[in-house]
Amino acid sequence: MKCAKLVGPKQFEITEIKDPEKEAGKSLIEITKTGICGSDLHYFEIGEPSGLVMGHEFCGRIIFNGGRDDLKVGDRVTALPISPCGHCEACLTGNPQYCLETWNKAIGLSTDNPGGLTTKINVRNDMIFKVPDSVSDEEAAMVEPTAVGLHAIHLADIKVGDKVLVIGSGIIGLVSAMFAKMEGASYVAVSEVNEARAKKAVELGVADEYILANDKFNETVQSKVGLGFDKVIECCGNSAAVSSSISAVKPGGHIILVGVSMTPITIPSILAVMHEVTITGAIAYTKEEFKTCIDLMANKQIDVLKFLSKVVPLSETQNSYDELISGTSDSIKIIVNPNK
Ligand SMILES: NC(=O)c1ccc[n+]([C@@H]2O[C@H](COP(=O)([O-])OP(=O)(O)OC[C@H]3O[C@@H](n4cnc5c(N)ncnc54)[C@H](O)[C@@H]3O)[C@@H](O)[C@H]2O)c1
Ligand SMILES: [Zn+2]
Ligand SMILES: [Zn+2]
Repeated sequence: MKCAKLVGPKQFEITEIKDPEKEAGKSLIEITKTGICGSDLHYFEIGEPSGLVMGHEFCGRIIFNGGRDDLKVGDRVTALPISPCGHCEACLTGNPQYCLETWNKAIGLSTDNPGGLTTKINVRNDMIFKVPDSVSDEEAAMVEPTAVGLHAIHLADIKVGDKVLVIGSGIIGLVSAMFAKMEGASYVAVSEVNEARAKKAVELGVADEYILANDKFNETVQSKVGLGFDKVIECCGNSAAVSSSISAVKPGGHIILVGVSMTPITIPSILAVMHEVTITGAIAYTKEEFKTCIDLMANKQIDVLKFLSKVVPLSETQNSYDELISGTSDSIKIIVNPNK
């Protein structure tokens, strides 16, 4: 079957891989839609692991039911791409994101477990959720990043009236801003280096204003919120962005680090010390949060389709990744249809 395989730094090859074999405890899914994630862009830039077939945000149809009674061939599904062990303390307390095995065999994030940039994949039965009729394939492929934002906002424990800064206006930043508003934040700003994306956050109604991440950043923050923001959700991961989160949060404030860096970063830790800042890491989501996002979509309480920029065929994978790392495009979520 056809796939888009990572073969080097910023380089994909459209090639063939073996069809997946039936595996105990897993169902076979024919992929209909796969999202490109900001985390995928990190792998793309460094070209490792070589041979990776990405795509951990997907929607598909069951083509072989591996033993779950409530699933039948043809059902539309999405799934958590993770591989928790199911029996450690983390798993038993509803926090699979803490399980030490969660990323070992994650779909689209490990070379032995191809993701949705191919046509058929094996998915663990216990990670699968059915997609209600009122949720489109594209929305279903966006449940995963939406759940990342929901998890971050749960950790931020936003209070009615909080002033919140979201750093980075990619999909993770945008859904985080959306949930911050829903939690009652009275002022939500996004900070960006890419002005086209910053503008979009305001146009799409998830942020009140944007603040450019330039040499006037600290001054602008001061003019908007005085001592600083109550909560900062950092959705980039690089040194500059994490440093901005520390300078923009108010003394005693709370930063949630969602952004990922593949290499160690440098931050002004003295400022965090002097201001008694709380910094919390945020990884993935719980199963409950994943399900909540499906319910919110089904009930039309959130609209994530406004973050979808385009759906492209598999042959456009390379161009789409190139566009997303350009730093100038206003595209947010690009979804790949691997069957086209
Ligand atoms: N913790 C988790 O569970 C989790 C899950 C998914 C994604 N992530 C990470 O979250 C981050 C965001 O994901 P995404 O899909 O939205 O990525 P993205 O690449 O689409 O968005 C990142 C945005 O940050 C902006 N940016 C870069 N430097 C900046 C700076 N100094 N100040 C302000 N903005 C800056 C970029 O212009 C870009 O628009 C990525 O690092 C991704 O790996 C983490
Ligand atoms: Zn992702
Ligand atoms: Zn476990």
